[in-house]
Amino acid sequence: MQGIRIRQGEKPLKGEVKISGSKNAALPIMAGTVLEPGEYVLHDLPILRDIKVMRAVLEALGAVVEQKGKSLLIDTRDLSSAEIPDYLMRRMRASILFMGPLLGRFGKVKVSQPGGCSIGPRPIDWHIKGLKQLGANFKESHGFLTGWGSSLTGREIHLDFPSVGTTENIMLGAAKARGNTVIRNAAREPEIVDLQNFLNSMGASIVGAGTDLIKITGKKKLQGTEHTVIPDRIEAGTFLLAGAITRGEVKVLNVIPEHLESVIAKVREAGFELQEEGESLTILPSGTRPNPLDIKTYPYPGFPTDMQPQFMALLTLARGTSVLTENIFENRMKHAEELKRMGAKIRVEGRTAIIEGVERLYGAFVESPPALRAGAALVLAGLAAEGETQVVDIEHIERGYENLVGKLQKLGAEIEVFNVEEEEKNA
Ligand code: EPZ
Repeated sequence: MQGIRIRQGEKPLKGEVKISGSKNAALPIMAGTVLEPGEYVLHDLPILRDIKVMRAVLEALGAVVEQKGKSLLIDTRDLSSAEIPDYLMRRMRASILFMGPLLGRFGKVKVSQPGGCSIGPRPIDWHIKGLKQLGANFKESHGFLTGWGSSLTGREIHLDFPSVGTTENIMLGAAKARGNTVIRNAAREPEIVDLQNFLNSMGASIVGAGTDLIKITGKKKLQGTEHTVIPDRIEAGTFLLAGAITRGEVKVLNVIPEHLESVIAKVREAGFELQEEGESLTILPSGTRPNPLDIKTYPYPGFPTDMQPQFMALLTLARGTSVLTENIFENRMKHAEELKRMGAKIRVEGRTAIIEGVERLYGAFVESPPALRAGAALVLAGLAAEGETQVVDIEHIERGYENLVGKLQKLGAEIEVFNVEEEEKNA
């Protein structure tokens, strides 16, 4: 098992970091390449596990995939299957995004219950409901879900909740459906807009992504395309907080500031100065502890749930008591227990964490819960803590952050990856 060691925290980070392409934009777009037989070139993909798993699914379906640096060349002209292997489904929930495009291309799909983070039950009932409304049928047996539908037909769909994945699956299924589809109460995340732009570059006709009303005019034929994914707003937010929690000065490059408006507002409310210059954001050194905050997570453009663990780490050092309420996932507070091992004072009651700020955190041996943002939050805490911190079970972090340790080293952090078993053997 691998671990991350921060030898000495309390070191202000300083320097520039280039943000990678967005994982959560890349995943639905990679699934979209199976919708139409064709050759696709996707640029600026982050090099991380979830992308590798998505590539493995594409290859299991019969696609030919070639990597060139941070670009993938994907040829889906000769797919041989509409069944996603069970062992890959279990590794990543986003495999579920193949349902819409496989139904759209083959009129059938077979998947098993998805895996992924452990931040709640994370059912897929809304995905199934939406695709059924497009005319697909489903049956479940022995943990496998089979979907079929000779040809999907567009219609008006009103989502119970602005679910990101559900919105994406319906867009992917409706792009080649007969007739028009309207999605009301759609998710508004920037990754949805990027998916719309990708599909439209294939010849689809979709408008409204980024609002809660998306209109899709089904097309008979699309074609392969080339696309560059948007920068990762959550990675950008994570590095801004790495600067904040160490009272350093960090400039994040390759960002779209408007995608981070709610995060920027909270960073400023916490008392930090943030400079915006075109596609970069710089957090300036702060001489004092952060102000306490009241944060509630909401669908975009509300405060993003994917930044909640990282802010919890920051607020453990605030000058006062903060309240964090998690409205999106049922069980996304596991990082609190590990932060308490570092001296944080946190009380979790259901979806709410009450955080009483302390003067300092102390380095400790902590375990990353099986959730990638929680792992990142523990690394942030280790960067601020006195003494040495070891974070183990870091494969979850590697699912969502490209070269996190290397990027932090470039900012001056005394951080490295180590092998837990080897160290125990030599201990
Ligand atoms: C996407 O997950 C992101 N993942 C998540 O990022 C992100 O936290 C989430 O959106 C919310 O912004 C990707 O884009 C690959 P949802 P998704 O459908 O689509 C419930 C990360 O850290 N729900 O908006 O799964 C669900 O359980 C990951 O990069 C149902 O009940 O999110 C959750 O409580 C973590 N039934 C809530 O809705 C369904 O059919 C929001 O889920 C679907 C979802």
